[in-house]
Amino acid sequence: MSEAVLEVRDLHKSYGNGADRFDALRGVSLRVKPQESLAIVGKSGSGKSTLMHLLALLDRPTSGDVLVSGRNARDVRGGELNRMRNAEFGFVFQQFFLNAHASVLDNVMLPLVIAGVSRPKRKQRALEALDRLGLADKARNRANDLSGGQKQRVVIARALVNEPRVIFADEPTGNLDSTTGAEVEGMLFDLHREQRITLVVVTHDDDLAARCERRITMRDGLISDVSEVAA
Ligand SMILES: Nc1ncnc2c1ncn2[C@@H]1O[C@H](COP(=O)(O)OP(=O)(O)O)[C@@H](O)[C@H]1O
Ligand SMILES: [Mg+2]
Repeated sequence: MSEAVLEVRDLHKSYGNGADRFDALRGVSLRVKPQESLAIVGKSGSGKSTLMHLLALLDRPTSGDVLVSGRNARDVRGGELNRMRNAEFGFVFQQFFLNAHASVLDNVMLPLVIAGVSRPKRKQRALEALDRLGLADKARNRANDLSGGQKQRVVIARALVNEPRVIFADEPTGNLDSTTGAEVEGMLFDLHREQRITLVVVTHDDDLAARCERRITMRDGLISDVSEVAA
C-alpha cells in the first residue's frame, strides 16, 4: 500500500475563546492518496475551508495531527514548514490574489523566488507554465489588465510552476461564469491527469465534484459521507 500524500488524524479546530468559541472541526480523519482527485463538499460553514487550510499547512490545528508524506507537521518548525508548503503544494484560492500591479510573469515567478531559484531559471519555468495555459503572450501585461478567467489561469500557472505534488483549490470556479468556469475546471483536471498531480478541491459545484475520484461531505465540522466515484 502506498503511503498517503497527506493524512489528518482526529483533527479539531476551534476559533475564538470562552463564550465566543466555535468548533469548526470536531474530529476529522482522512488520508489523501497519491495522485487522486478529491472533492470536499458540504454546506457553507461546514468546515471545508478550515480543513483545507490545515491540510495545506496554512494553519495549525487546535488538536490532532497533520502528516505530509508520513511526516508529522507538529515536528516541523515554522521556516521549514513554509519551505515544505512552497515546495510541495500549489494553491488556487480566491483569497490568494494576484499582485494586481505586478506583471503576469512576476506573479507566476513568485513561488520560485521563495524557493530560491535563479532568475533565468525562474523566467524560463514561469514562461513554460504560462505557455501551458495559453497565456505566454500575456506575460508582460499587468495582472489587473486580464479578464477573470485569464486571472484564474494565471493563478493556476503560479500553482503549478513549482511542480507541486498537490494542488489545493478552494471554489476555483466560484466567481466565474459557467463557460469560463468549465474552462478552468478542464485545466485543473488536465494537470491532474497529465502530470499526476494530486488534486484537492473544495467546491459547491456538483459537476466539478463529480469529476473527482472521491468525494467527502462535511457537515458541522465532521465528515458525514465518503463516496468513491466510478471512473
Ligand atoms: N478565522 C475565523 N474566526 C472565527 N470563525 C471562523 C474563522 N474561520 C472560519 N470560522 C467559522 O468556522 C466555520 C467553518 O468555516 P469554513 O471552514 O470557512 O466553512 P466552509 O468553507 O465550509 O464554508 C464557520 O462557521 C465560520 O464562520
Ligand atoms: Mg469555504
